[in-house]
Amino acid sequence: MLIRRTLKKVAIVGLFALLLVPGLESQAYAQHELAGSRDASSKQGMVVAVSPDGAAVGAKILKQGGNAVDAAIATAFALAVTHPSAGNIGGGGFMLIHPSDGGPPIFIDYREKAPLSSTRDMYIDGGSRKNHRYVGVPGTVRGLKLAHEIYGSLEWSKLVEPAVRLAKDGFSMHAGLAGSLNFEVKNSINDEFKRVYGKADGTQWKSGDRIVLKDLGATLDRIAKQGTKGFYQGETARLLVEEMKKGGGYVRQADLDKYRARVRTPIRFKYREYDVYSAPPPSSGGITLAQMMGISEQFDLKSKGRWSTETNHIMIEAMRRAYANRAMYLADADFVSIPKYLTTKSFAKYLSTTIDLKRATKSDSLGPRITEEPESKETTHFSVVDKNGMAVSNTYTLEAAYGSEVVVRGAGFILNNEMGDFNGKPGVTNRRGRIGTPANIVEPEKRMLSSMTPTIVGKNGKAYLVTGSPGGRTIINTVFCVTLNVLEFGMSAREAVDAPRMDHEWFPERVRFMGADKPRFATLVKELGAMGHNVQDTNGQGDANTIMIKDGIYIGAADYRYGAAAGVMGRQ
Ligand code: GLY
Repeated sequence: MLIRRTLKKVAIVGLFALLLVPGLESQAYAQHELAGSRDASSKQGMVVAVSPDGAAVGAKILKQGGNAVDAAIATAFALAVTHPSAGNIGGGGFMLIHPSDGGPPIFIDYREKAPLSSTRDMYIDGGSRKNHRYVGVPGTVRGLKLAHEIYGSLEWSKLVEPAVRLAKDGFSMHAGLAGSLNFEVKNSINDEFKRVYGKADGTQWKSGDRIVLKDLGATLDRIAKQGTKGFYQGETARLLVEEMKKGGGYVRQADLDKYRARVRTPIRFKYREYDVYSAPPPSSGGITLAQMMGISEQFDLKSKGRWSTETNHIMIEAMRRAYANRAMYLADADFVSIPKYLTTKSFAKYLSTTIDLKRATKSDSLGPRITEEPESKETTHFSVVDKNGMAVSNTYTLEAAYGSEVVVRGAGFILNNEMGDFNGKPGVTNRRGRIGTPANIVEPEKRMLSSMTPTIVGKNGKAYLVTGSPGGRTIINTVFCVTLNVLEFGMSAREAVDAPRMDHEWFPERVRFMGADKPRFATLVKELGAMGHNVQDTNGQGDANTIMIKDGIYIGAADYRYGAAAGVMGRQ
């Protein structure tokens, strides 16, 4: 709450800064070039990320002639410094790449894996997830390197170097980060986290303070010079394993040696004339999105209107059904078999026939009641497009805010607590959203089920919309809302990102709606309630940093809700 409120304040400051500039967009990037702003447009390239410094690094790489993958790699390393709650080298994620040459999009899976010594019941007793035991084998550095090997055009070291400089020289903190760190440092039980991220004199961080991350800078320097060896072997690996042993964690050198990022085929489906590409397993994102979009396509939602009761009832029912299937079938496809029909049009059509247009469906009626671990809402998403139209949609995470809060002593980076994304209590069910289905149960080397949904919509073989979001299980619904807003309702990028979002996850049996407290939506909320929906207000959902490409112009829409920035390159 505190973090969210503080970040909102920053976003509003950013908005005023933009409004002070005459001529809005065209002037905005003249004055805010390589800096933060809420909206931006360019013909040359675009990076939209949560951190102005991170976006600026990516934008600079584009300006130096790098392509979208180069810029994405540089942005990801920079966010590991400037957005420490989710930007990372000690976590994992997914990168979706839409090439500019009409070739098929590819997906890089750098999700963390369960350590070799993992067992099915290792989390049966629960306990705090802010500790060494929940750390999965990190995938980010191998994932970014794999993307570079396939598509990179600039030298690797050049892409890591800006992050090295940010860490070693320090960077100026915005109010959102200051508030977030003050809160976490006060509440953390990890001494090294307190030492590295607390202010040396023990006072509170404030906007404009400079933070230097010396050990992290040295680790990034090793990665810049040695590539993956700078992380998975040698000094960094030694320090990581030592940290694990000291704190009772499971990751060992053998885990680091065995970890590989994977190239996978994205989930692909048609929505009217558009080609939608999204995350395959071990993410649940693409398959769940395909079902929700597929169900929506069966109804002429456009004629019903975006804020009609009928449209929102259908969207909620689509969410309910797709999330029920998510819980029952989805997990790491290297370990479990996932039914192929889940993404077909005929299945979406069948699901649409099960919707009663007058009444909310009871979630219990959609299958055995099974439960899933609640997911943290942290994670971060950024979108990139280069001057040739190559697009990258990247979502990566430490799982909770600041992950496990375990900072590797001497190496300065934060480790994930991604093992919490497995169903830790096999078979244990409750109505609060815990899921204990067999598919996503811990096994050595398995990747835990994710909700991260980096998505690119193509039109005539070219990238048209690049989007994604943080938000735990709400991620898929955020992407669903943004994508439908554009493809069905013809909204601009800004309108689509700003529109209030909804979230239903099958269980718990409730709809969270960002507009629930707004007089404008009072009738909608009342009518949904009368149909049997339990509609609740929510103060925020996601951070969908989005790019739309229209008539050759890249329109960047940062999601101001959560403190965001658009870095741009070039002028029109
Ligand atoms: N830990 C967030 C996700 O993978 O969806």
